[in-house]
Amino acid sequence: MGPKGVILAGGLGSRLSPLTKITNKHLLPIYCKPMIYYPIQTLVDAGITDILIVTGGAHAGEFLRLLGNGAKFGLKHINYTYQEGEGGIAEALRLARHFADNDKIVVILGDNIIQKSIKKQVDEFRTQERGARILLKKVGDPHRFGVAGFKNGKITSIVEKPKNPKSKYAVTGIYMYDSQVFDIIKTLKPSHRGELEITDVNNAYLKMGQMEHSILDGWWTDAGTFDSLLRANNLVAKAGCGKVRQ
Ligand code: G1P
Repeated sequence: MGPKGVILAGGLGSRLSPLTKITNKHLLPIYCKPMIYYPIQTLVDAGITDILIVTGGAHAGEFLRLLGNGAKFGLKHINYTYQEGEGGIAEALRLARHFADNDKIVVILGDNIIQKSIKKQVDEFRTQERGARILLKKVGDPHRFGVAGFKNGKITSIVEKPKNPKSKYAVTGIYMYDSQVFDIIKTLKPSHRGELEITDVNNAYLKMGQMEHSILDGWWTDAGTFDSLLRANNLVAKAGCGKVRQ
């Protein structure tokens, strides 16, 4: 049993305006498929078939029209929920509580696209008794992301978009949590950008001594800015549409 999968596909996508004026960011094309196809396939390939999509805004209905019950991905059913307003990643995740129903969850940001399977890392999490697990990736531009600091191979801190990153290890948008995550979210206060930050959730697990990490294999990119959207398209195009996992 479990874990269940949660894809966060809300937000205004304001960094991609005007592309996101008349559609949701996660419906934009990445080479040969809509962006949302990639995180769904990532979860399915890891053996996760119980999936919730959290979306919002004016174009939420289009997800249902595009994905239906997920037959394209070999699914029997997809769950959907609607986020009112723009409260950030952790605020969107709060809506998954009912769906999670005390099971562990694997959360993926809808604009995170990866080359290889995360089955190994999800299996590690399956055997993990409690707590959280994040996936890290060495990058050239860590200041754009949440960044891990280490001591003796253990994570000591995670800082959101640091000016002076302590390492080159970005925290990717793939997070694994036990059911404590929903109690942690309740304790969060909005950051300076007015959002409940996923980095604060991760730091709460760190403080409890319950944060594990794995390194992601293969390439990883987000797609929330013009440059990263282009990069995502180029990476997928180079791999070949049929060759990237769906
Ligand atoms: C978010 C998280 C950040 C993480 C990134 C991964 O950033 O806040 O910690 O590294 O996703 O894609 P955002 O895209 O909201 O700026």
